[in-house]
Amino acid sequence: MKTTRTLAAMAWVLVMTTFPAQLFSQANDAYSRADSLLKMMTLPEKIGQLNQYNDDWNATGPVTVDPGKAEQVKNGEVGSLLNCVTVQRTRKWQSVAMQSRLKIPLLFGQDVIHGYKTTFPIPLGESCSWDPDAIERSERVAADEASAAGIHWTFAPMVDIARDPRWGRVMEGSGEDPYLGSLIAAARVRGLQGKKLGGTNSLMACAKHFAAYGAAIGGRDYNSVDMSDRLLREIYLPPFKAAVDAGVATLMTSFNDINGVPSTGNRELLTQILRKEWGFTGFVVSDWGSVGEMINHGNVSNDYEAALSAINAGCDMDMESRCYRNNLEKLVKEGKVDIFAIDEAVRRILEKKFELGLFDDPYRFCNEERERKALSNPEHPAMAREMARKSIVLLKNENHLLPLSPTLKNIAVIGPMVKAVNQNKGFWDVNVPGVDSNFVVTWWQGISARVSRETTLHYAHGCDFEGTSRAGFEEVVAIAKQADVVLFTMGERRDMSGEARSRSDIGIPGVQEELLELLLKTGKPVVVLISAGRPLVFKYTAEHAPAILYTWWLGSEAGNAIADVLFGDYNPSAKFTMTFPRSVGQIPINYSHFNTGRPARNDSDRVYRSAYTDLSIYPQYEFGYGLSYTSFGYSNLEVNRKQFRKNEVIDIHVTISNTGAFDGEEIAQLYVRDLVGSVSRPVSELKDFAKVFLRKGESTTVTFHLDAAKLSFYDQHAQLVSEPGFFDVMVGASSRDIRLQERVEMVK
Ligand code: BGC
Repeated sequence: MKTTRTLAAMAWVLVMTTFPAQLFSQANDAYSRADSLLKMMTLPEKIGQLNQYNDDWNATGPVTVDPGKAEQVKNGEVGSLLNCVTVQRTRKWQSVAMQSRLKIPLLFGQDVIHGYKTTFPIPLGESCSWDPDAIERSERVAADEASAAGIHWTFAPMVDIARDPRWGRVMEGSGEDPYLGSLIAAARVRGLQGKKLGGTNSLMACAKHFAAYGAAIGGRDYNSVDMSDRLLREIYLPPFKAAVDAGVATLMTSFNDINGVPSTGNRELLTQILRKEWGFTGFVVSDWGSVGEMINHGNVSNDYEAALSAINAGCDMDMESRCYRNNLEKLVKEGKVDIFAIDEAVRRILEKKFELGLFDDPYRFCNEERERKALSNPEHPAMAREMARKSIVLLKNENHLLPLSPTLKNIAVIGPMVKAVNQNKGFWDVNVPGVDSNFVVTWWQGISARVSRETTLHYAHGCDFEGTSRAGFEEVVAIAKQADVVLFTMGERRDMSGEARSRSDIGIPGVQEELLELLLKTGKPVVVLISAGRPLVFKYTAEHAPAILYTWWLGSEAGNAIADVLFGDYNPSAKFTMTFPRSVGQIPINYSHFNTGRPARNDSDRVYRSAYTDLSIYPQYEFGYGLSYTSFGYSNLEVNRKQFRKNEVIDIHVTISNTGAFDGEEIAQLYVRDLVGSVSRPVSELKDFAKVFLRKGESTTVTFHLDAAKLSFYDQHAQLVSEPGFFDVMVGASSRDIRLQERVEMVK
């Protein structure tokens, strides 16, 4: 009996080592195929799958110089590479992996955050479109291009709720609201992954950074997070849950600790909530070096303990820290880590490799012809232009200064953004080798292409984004004086918002507002266009400029989109998804705050009130704010039932009318206030919205929906509850501009 077993085992080993892994269990699902492969693997090979290394040519974190990388890939000791792009380069690395004993293909991961070659607006800008379908389409383009360039996996979407504009990474997310943030998170996952993994134009998505990274104390990147379970579950987790429900393949842990426990070693988060409560079956990757960084957090004393903490918490792949590589084998042999935990992690990763079809053809994303075609697809720039114009927010438009007539005689175009190329691409653009910079349409090019033959454009740089040089001021004023209208571009340089780009002063940097003051003194009408990656503070501009557009960083079609809006070919429709404070002293500030026991009713109501003595209680621009060239009226609020039971849905009908002189789109918003709860409820919470296009003079009825699920919240014990009682239902054009209101009651 013993001999028979030994012979069988020997035969099994022979078969397994002779045939490449991809021949096994072809008929089975990814899970079973991964499972059979797992049985063939040695412990070092298993641990290999859990390592992700940076490729040599580009870095998005502190680099580890590792001359032995190729050798390790050849030995099957690396599961994935990041920052490795193009068919040529991914093919090269894959062929090294194919020399390993089991020929397990590498996964290539890359931050494709808002486009690959075709760059879309930064995600915060896109979120201002309140258009999940359009965002989904933009992610489809990103997936199409990146997957054609050999990439399998993007570290996107970033779904961190962000409520502190000092934090540089607000640019990567969808703003402050969990409801809107969740819809956009799901749309991005659908767009990136396509119908299902396995199509050659799908990317695996990665919801990041799990969790609460956006709540870094003081808005300082990587800082600690201290929050109640209620806040975590109600505000910060929903977009992750939405991504999981949409089928996201992977999640990335965050750099921060939550209440003293780093996310990367946080079993409550990575196993209890993510896997047990939400049923997530994909895999979790650490953030860059975050396994090893737990030593700095002071939760472990060395990388051995860091590896132990992370793997036991449920972090499957170690990005760049090498803690897993250096310690897991020892930890297993010493019995500190159960081999079952390793097997689980490896199987999850292999499963994704099977789902992507990499075992059937490790080079299936390596097709030069497809890469060339995808990167020159003429439909992609058109889609980027569409998305860019949907992201521009109109803040002010005195006397209908905008839109401009394209037949104006003289237009002065001034400021640091006018002829900038790369600035348009934002912080997280992909450094795609061989892409001609002409691919980006500058503002100058876009505007030049749109104005009439009779128009003369006058350009002056004026000043830089930063610095104190006023050398260009005289020239600018002279130019402005000749013009019928002045377009003045200002804002942040693209490396001022992004990772590790927290700022304590989020005013307009340098001497830009000083130059604006001079321009306004000429008496010429001035349109200010602000480029930035975050809500900036610009009190002077807000009060004095007659027209303002907030343009974020719009991507490769920026110039065309700007021209579309300036000359009225597109009527701006975007609305802010983050509150814009009046000063840094107002932070943290968001629309969905609590009432407090002593609320201030207005700015003259300050004595013994919850207010600042020297500052308004209101933000500069509230969540949901954004104008159009036309105006919209709201009327006829009707609720199908004023009393409803928990299993009933309320329909709320409102008539929206275009009352102005242009065709345009309105984003009508539904907010709710739960009047009495076992825990205080916010003064207002977004629960639905509708984006409608109306020709001038036209009206339509929109219907919003409310149900008990939307009205539920986390109680004092962090349990999800839905409590009967009265709710104010408010419909408006922003979180402050409430036009109609009704009270409804949920009964038992
Ligand atoms: C960032 C992640 C990113 C990773 C890889 C980290 O520094 O926090 O968002 O995906 O680098 O580039």
